[in-house]
This record gives sequence, structure tokens and C-alpha cells, in this order.
Amino acid sequence: MEARTPADPRIAALMDSTEIISGMMTSEQIEIVLTELERTLEAGVPGDIVELGCNCGTTTIFIAKLLERRGEPREYHVYDSFRGLPSSGPGDQGPEWPDWDPAPWQ
Ligand SMILES: C[S@@+](CC[C@H](N)C(=O)[O-])C[C@H]1O[C@@H](n2cnc3c(N)ncnc32)[C@H](O)[C@@H]1O
Repeated sequence: MEARTPADPRIAALMDSTEIISGMMTSEQIEIVLTELERTLEAGVPGDIVELGCNCGTTTIFIAKLLERRGEPREYHVYDSFRGLPSSGPGDQGPEWPDWDPAPWQ
């Protein structure tokens, strides 16, 4: 698959300058997280930032850089249960992640 260029030049610069340190997130998935975070911050939603399921910190690095580049004074908290992901159910939306093996995280 050909890599996309994010529409937001600040996010494009962040994607270009930062290594993805694990195979758990694609650049497209990280771009979505950053784009939605940027929209939330621009909308003036108050409060600190919490990442649930940070694992080894792949997305954490990108979010931390985005917050740093914006000069955000908010605190950034990251957590992980290290118990893997629960099975998806009928209420879950979006494609399954067929190649992901939960065994190392359980
Ligand atoms: C696909 S990995 C996340 C990858 C990570 N965000 C990254 O950027 O590399 C999913 C993680 O979510 C964690 N997790 C699943 N359910 C959780 C919960 N209820 N609370 C906290 N962490 C959870 C798992 O232990 C696993 O480490």
C-alpha cells in the first residue's frame, strides 16, 4: 500500500520525522489519532490527555511530540493493562485485526 500524506502539514511533518517503533500501529492509524487529537485541542476541549492501551509507547511518542510542538500545558497520562485486547463483539465497529496475535500481551 502506498503511504498517504496527511492533509495537515504539521501532522505530515511529525509523521515524516518520527519512527514507528513497533508493528502494532500503521502510519495511517497514527495519523487518524493525531488528526482527531488536533481537532479536539483546536476545538478548545478542556482537560488533560489520557491514552488507554499505550503498550510499548508507539503512539505515545507521536502524541507527546504533538503536544510538545503545540506547547500544550496539559498533562499526558498513559496506561496499559498488559492483559491483551478483549474479543470483539457484535457492538464493535470497523474491521477485525486478523493478523494480530494477543498471546504476547496476555
Ligand atoms: C494494539 S495494542 C496498543 C498499541 C499501542 N497503542 C501502540 O501505539 O503501540 C493494545 C493494548 O491495549 C491494552 N489494553 C486492552 N484493554 C485495555 C484496558 N481495558 N485498559 C488498558 N489497556 C488495555 C493491551 O494490553 C495492549 O497492550
